[in-house]
Amino acid sequence: MKTTRKKFITQGIYAGMALTGVTALISACGGIRRASLRDNENMVTAEDILPPEKAEILRFASLAPSGHNSQPWVVNVISPEEWILCADQSRRLPAVDPDNRELLLSMGAFLENLSLAAGSLGYAADIRITARTPQDTEIARITVRSDSAHPYPLERLSSRSTVKQGFLDRELSRADVRYLSESLQGHCVYFQKGSQHARCISEGTVEAFRIQSMRDNAQRELVQWIRLSSDHARRRMDGLTTESMEITGIGGLIVRNFMKPEDFLTPGNRQRGIDMTARLTGEGAGWMVVTGYPGGAAGLIETGRRFQRMALLARERMIAIHPMTQMLEEPSGQQSLGMNHSGNFDPQFILRVGYLSSYPEPVSLRRPVSWFAERG
Ligand SMILES: Cc1cc2nc3c(=O)[nH]c(=O)nc-3n(C[C@H](O)[C@H](O)[C@H](O)COP(=O)(O)O)c2cc1C
Repeated sequence: MKTTRKKFITQGIYAGMALTGVTALISACGGIRRASLRDNENMVTAEDILPPEKAEILRFASLAPSGHNSQPWVVNVISPEEWILCADQSRRLPAVDPDNRELLLSMGAFLENLSLAAGSLGYAADIRITARTPQDTEIARITVRSDSAHPYPLERLSSRSTVKQGFLDRELSRADVRYLSESLQGHCVYFQKGSQHARCISEGTVEAFRIQSMRDNAQRELVQWIRLSSDHARRRMDGLTTESMEITGIGGLIVRNFMKPEDFLTPGNRQRGIDMTARLTGEGAGWMVVTGYPGGAAGLIETGRRFQRMALLARERMIAIHPMTQMLEEPSGQQSLGMNHSGNFDPQFILRVGYLSSYPEPVSLRRPVSWFAERG
């Protein structure tokens, strides 16, 4: 890369980070967001596979979060009432998630959305987990039947998003901690900023991020999921866009148009990521750690479901939730968590939390239903 281009890109990223406050000014040059792609040419209908209301259940399910927005699900539609949820092996993240731990958590979030959406649309989804080990391709068998509606505000599913920046420097109220963690039935601990545990997690996260930034296989895997140009994003409808990485404004415009995903591998950009992580860990109210449910693969799926139930409540309380998973992905991070917490502490999600003064709209992309649902 020529020096002038490199400098231009570097300044672009800095500008993007510094100028997020003036995004409105330049929203005309914004990248692809979820809302701008509704009903576009990529939204092939799934009507030849499923009746519209059932397809809508799967669309809501797919709004679930997943590591790198890899969307590791595929649904085999045996009949309009009988579906099999499988892991798409081509969407695994072997370098950061070799044991499929995060994949199963994401599947849990998918199933939770599916169940809530089905209830709201006048159905009940009976879910039987069939995965016996984290390596199994088949995850669950789902039967959808008509049932009197179990109303759940679908708006919560469509407006949930991961938020990374702009956290206020204020601790969470006890009432909000209780409200958020209720569905986790004791499987959630809040470490208030400034506490010794919170400091350990902040430092450990930066250190694990630094180690992972130097791990070439993890970085090359990440690059595979970066969609910088609008054209690339539109073709794939998954992964990480400038908008979802919160590189907005002029910086986003420059990165989208002049940078290639591989440019994230340069030593300078790796260091910039570490610096950004160090800054972010200092923002907000502290950390929430979600601990696992027992039961191997089924336990991880249950943990993902309950995490999602919590995440769906955050927006109404103006609380941002940012999973920062590196400590769980790097052996030294796992070791440090083990040493600093007693007993059978089994962390599955490390979440940076904080209040926001305004909540952004979701921007991460999703594949249309017809791309991940197949006739079984
Ligand atoms: C298991 C899991 C691990 C994740 N780890 C991270 C992480 O380490 N850093 C991060 O910025 N986001 C992380 N995320 C958030 C995803 O990147 C995010 O869900 C995805 O990009 C889709 O965006 P959305 O949540 O706004 O819909 C994680 C999500 C899940 C489900």
